Amino acid sequence: MKSFISQGVQILATGSAVPSVSLNNDQISKIVETSDDWIFTRTGIKERRLLTGNQQSVIDLATVASARALDKISMNPAQLDLIILATSSPNDLFGSASQVQFEIGAINAVAFDLTAACSGFVLGLVTAVQYLRTGSYSNALVIGADVLSKWVNWSDRTTCILFGDAAGAVILQSCSTIDNSILDFQLNTDGNYSNYLSIQYQIDDYPHPLLNLYQGSFKFISMNGKEVYKFAVSQVPLSILKCLNNLNMSVNDIDWLLLHQANERILKAVAEKLSISDNKIIANLGKYGNTSAASIPLALDEALANNKIANNDIIVIAGFGAGLTWGTIIIRWKSSQLK
Ligand code: COA
Repeated sequence: MKSFISQGVQILATGSAVPSVSLNNDQISKIVETSDDWIFTRTGIKERRLLTGNQQSVIDLATVASARALDKISMNPAQLDLIILATSSPNDLFGSASQVQFEIGAINAVAFDLTAACSGFVLGLVTAVQYLRTGSYSNALVIGADVLSKWVNWSDRTTCILFGDAAGAVILQSCSTIDNSILDFQLNTDGNYSNYLSIQYQIDDYPHPLLNLYQGSFKFISMNGKEVYKFAVSQVPLSILKCLNNLNMSVNDIDWLLLHQANERILKAVAEKLSISDNKIIANLGKYGNTSAASIPLALDEALANNKIANNDIIVIAGFGAGLTWGTIIIRWKSSQLK
C-alpha cells in the first residue's frame, strides 16, 4: 500500500436493505429451547430479519442496497467500473454479482463475488480500493450481503439465534491523494482454525458407479462459539493496534469503532481492551443479529442516516469471522459529493 499509489479513494454513498419479516427472541423460543433472557444476555440480540418465501434471494437484497446508494448521489449506474459482491450465501455458486450488475443496470462494470464470510465486506473494500488507487478504475460498488438464515440449522439453538439476513453497499470513487479517505488496512488469515466456523461440503457415502466420483452437498453452519469468541476478542484489538501504529495514530484518535456486528459482548470486550469508551461503539445488532458480510455496511449506513458521523471523523472498521479471517480498515470520513 505504499509505493505505486497514485490516487486516493473516497466513499461517496452508502445504502442498505433488510427483509421486512422479523423474528424476535420470544418467537425463536417457540422453535428451539431458549429464552429472550439467555439470548439477550449472551449476545445483545433482540431480533433479526429473515428473507422468507421462495421468490427472493441475496441478489434482491444486494440490488436494493446498491440502488439506494446510487440514488443518494443520483449516480448513473453506467458510471460504475467495478462491482464486488462479498457474500457466503450466493444464489449461484458460479457467482451472484453478475445478476446484481444486470439488475441495477451497471452495464460497464465488471462484477464478481468474494467469499470471506463475516470478513467479506472488509476484504471486498480493500480489494476495490486497490483498483481505484492504481488508477485502473474510477468508480466501484462494494456490497456485503448474506442470507445465512438459509444455511442455519433451525433446530440448533447454539447457532440459529445469532444470524439474520441483510445487505449493505458503498460506492467508492478515486480522488486526489489529499482527499483520500481510506487511510490504511491490515488483514489476516489463519486457516488452521477453519473448523471453528464453517459450512462444509459433505461428500455422499457412495460414488458414481462407473466413475468412482463422489458428489455431495453443503451442510448447515457449524460453530465452536467459545473458540470464535476468544479468537475475536484476542485478535481484533491486535489488528486495530497494528493498523493505528502504521499510521502513527493512537486509540485516542478514534471517533468511532465499527466492528462486525457478531455479539455485543465481543464489541464491548474489544473496546475495553483498547480503552475506547462504549459511546464510540457503533452497534445495531440488537435489531438485526449477525448479518455476516452485510453487518458493517448496514451499521455504517444507519449511523450516517442518524447523523452520528461528522466530517473528518476517524472510523476504525474491523471484520472477523470464518476462515478464520480478520482485518481492519481505518477511514477518515469525508462528507463528499459526486464529481
Ligand atoms: N439458549 C439457551 N441455552 C443455550 C443456548 C440457547 N440458545 N445455546 C447454548 N445454550 C446452553 C448450552 O447448551 C450450555 O448448557 P450447559 O452448560 O448445560 O452445557 C450453556 O447454554 C452455555 O453454553 P455456551 O456455549 O458455553 O455459552 P456461551 O456463554 O459460550 O455463549 C455464544 C454462546 C454462542 C453466545 C458465544 O459463545 C458467542 O457469542 N460466541 C461467538 C459466536 C460468534 O460471534 N460467531 C460469529 C462470528 S463471525
